Amino acid sequence: TRRVRTRDLHLAKERGEKWAMLTSYDQYTAGIFDEAGIPVLLVGDSAANNVFGYPTTLPVTVDELIPLVRAVVGATSRSLVVADLPFGSYEEGPTQALRTAVRFMKEGGSHAVKLEGGRRTAPAIEAMTAAGIPVMAHIGFTPQSEHVFGGYRVQGRGDAADEVIADAEAVVRAGAFAVVLEMVPGDVAKRITHDVPVPTIGIGAGPHTDAQVLVWQDMAGLRTGGHMPRFVKRYADLAGVLREATTRYAEEVRDGAFPGPEHTF
Ligand code: KIV
Ligand code: NA
Repeated sequence: TRRVRTRDLHLAKERGEKWAMLTSYDQYTAGIFDEAGIPVLLVGDSAANNVFGYPTTLPVTVDELIPLVRAVVGATSRSLVVADLPFGSYEEGPTQALRTAVRFMKEGGSHAVKLEGGRRTAPAIEAMTAAGIPVMAHIGFTPQSEHVFGGYRVQGRGDAADEVIADAEAVVRAGAFAVVLEMVPGDVAKRITHDVPVPTIGIGAGPHTDAQVLVWQDMAGLRTGGHMPRFVKRYADLAGVLREATTRYAEEVRDGAFPGPEHTF
């Protein structure tokens, strides 16, 4: 077995094969997702919320994310690992974006990078692609801009569909190898998926995209607090499993059942 390449994802689109992507921020989950055959892992800036406990994605830095990227790359042998460019690390333009992307590729060992924004980031996508760095775009609702959007809101409803479509066309023209569509109406996602030659990856974008992505703690039910968006489906209750294990461990220490003779030298 070998690493998945962007070319494999294009061939999957041609064959009409759908695939799943997950976030990962550490070695154990990365190893499990890799073995489960998840072709693409994203070290998302959602580590801000899901690892560091920040209230939004805005505060997380490149220096905080690079060690997580290294952990995920080191624990995988098949998955293509994408590093997310955090807020403030690319908005100044193509030069800053390229400098940040090079850090993720060189210090983190990622195989691609992702950044938020449509038409506005096309020059940055072009610069990174020209430098040999595969770029995943992210359009529709982009969490780093939540203060402009006024919260987590569906983008591209009604007449605004043309804006999202123009963004998709611009990032693909600039060289993006794939594009994340977040919280856009299902019919708009379907139209973009049909129109663009690269894979579309939906999150809250309905069933017609080429791939889907979820934050792993949402998918596996480790996160239970806060607002859970409607597009999340929970496939396990990791929080419940861990709460139960923790309670039993503490009980057994208190009542002397642990450690037993078999745990004692
Ligand atoms: O950071 C993230 O988790 C993401 C995805 C969910 C697309 O950008
Ligand atoms: Na992100």
